[in-house]
This record gives sequence, C-alpha cells and structure tokens, in this order.
Amino acid sequence: MKSIKNNMLRVIVLFTLACSAVTVAAKNETVPADDVATLRLHPIDIEPTPPALKNEVDHEGTYGRAYPTQAPMIPHKANKYQMNLKVNQCLSCHDRSRIKESKAPMVSVTHFMTRDNEVLAQVSPRRYFCTQCHVPQDNAKPLVENIFIDVDKLLEADAAKKGR
Ligand code: HEC
Ligand code: HEC
Repeated sequence: MKSIKNNMLRVIVLFTLACSAVTVAAKNETVPADDVATLRLHPIDIEPTPPALKNEVDHEGTYGRAYPTQAPMIPHKANKYQMNLKVNQCLSCHDRSRIKESKAPMVSVTHFMTRDNEVLAQVSPRRYFCTQCHVPQDNAKPLVENIFIDVDKLLEADAAKKGR
C-alpha cells in the first residue's frame, strides 16, 4: 500500500515537472529575442547619436528632486553652452568664483571631491562633464504615462487615513 502511494506521488511530481518544462519551451518558442516589446528605435548593440532636444524648456525656478542624491535637472536651456577639454561654460556661472555675478547656485562640495574624498580647490575632473549627470528638459509628449508617487505623498495619505 505504501509503495503504491509512493509511486503515485512520483508520477505526480514527474508530471508536474514535465508540464513546466513544456511551458518553458513554449515560451521560448513564442518570444524570439528580437521581438521583445520595447521603445528602442535601434538594436541594443548600436549606439546612435541622440537627436538634439527640439523644445528645450526654460523652467521657472529649479525643479524639485525626486530623491536626496539626485543630480538636479537643469532648469534652463543648455544647448548653447560649450563643454570640452578646454572650455566649460557651465562653470562660467556655476563655479565658486562666479556665483556672485551670475546668481547661479554653486556646484555643491561633492563636485570638488576626488574619489578618495579629498577636497580640491577646483571642480574635480570626475565632475567636469556636467551633462553626464545633469540633463535639460524637453517639452515633449511622454512615451509612457508616469504613475510614480512621491513617498512624502504616500506618507501623507497614510496619515490622513489613520486620522493623524
Ligand atoms: C549664464 C549663467 C548660467 C550658465 C552658463 C549655466 N547655468 Fe545653470 N543655472 C543658472 C541659474 C541662474 C540657475 C538658477 C535657476 C533658477 O533658480 O531659476 C541655474 C540652475 C542650474 C541647475 C539647478 C540646480 C538645482 O539646485 O536645482 C543646474 C543643475 C544647472 N543650472 C546646471 C547647469 C549646467 C550643466 C550648465 C552647462 C550646460 C549650466 N547650468 C550653465 C545659470 C547658468
Ligand atoms: C557624476 C555626476 C555629476 C557631475 C558630472 C556633475 N554633477 Fe552636479 N550634482 C550631482 C549630484 C548627484 C548633485 C546633488 C547632490 C550633491 O550635491 O552632490 C549635484 C548638484 C549640483 C548642483 C546643486 C547644488 C546645490 O547645492 O543644490 C549644481 C548647481 C550642480 N550640481 C552643477 C553642476 C555643474 C555645473 C557640473 C559640471 C561642472 C556638475 N554639476 C557636474 C552630480 C553631478
């Protein structure tokens, strides 16, 4: 009696395994690598030059940050500012020595720090190419709807629900 039970169990286990193998195989067949739903315009191994922003935004005041260490977005047009090994026009307003005149916010202290946390007198080479991290905004139709909700809003809603 015991062995019959054991055998039945074995059959059930094997059957389940076989079924899952079939589903995996079926999935692999119906989703060829190049057919994955994507917003990409080019194959993943091609790195095209991105088109210039057409409707760069001049935002009134700075943008809020989505999280504390976010590189703030550039609230003004930035396409005319030159940035290469010799010239960095961003620094002509944002450098420590320029902010009095330009009224621009100064680059923060992290921009003077090396990776060993030494503070330099000038902007650290690893923070020289500003647009690696800071991006201007374009007035474009979003490709997908953004349903992100700020954690502060979630906490507020939660507190309101609890009547605090
Ligand atoms: C002509 C002066 C000038 C130049 C050049 C300039 N900026 Fe600015 N930038 C400003 C001013 C002024 C503000 C503040 C905007 C405001 O408060 O409305 C600002 C704001 C910013 C902010 C927002 C900071 C924050 O805390 O939200 C970033 C980031 C920034 N600029 C990056 C850049 C980058 C990168 C470049 C070069 C591509 C650049 N800026 C070139 C004047 C300048
Ligand atoms: C490696 C990424 C990176 C690069 C490159 C970089 N930044 Fe930043 N920047 C940040 C981050 C992250 C913050 C916000 C946190 C902080 O202050 O470190 C920031 C903050 C700022 C702020 C706001 C400072 C404040 O106190 O609110 C300004 C202005 C700014 N950056 C300008 C620049 C300029 C101009 C350059 C080029 C010379 C530059 N950044 C290069 C990442 C970067």
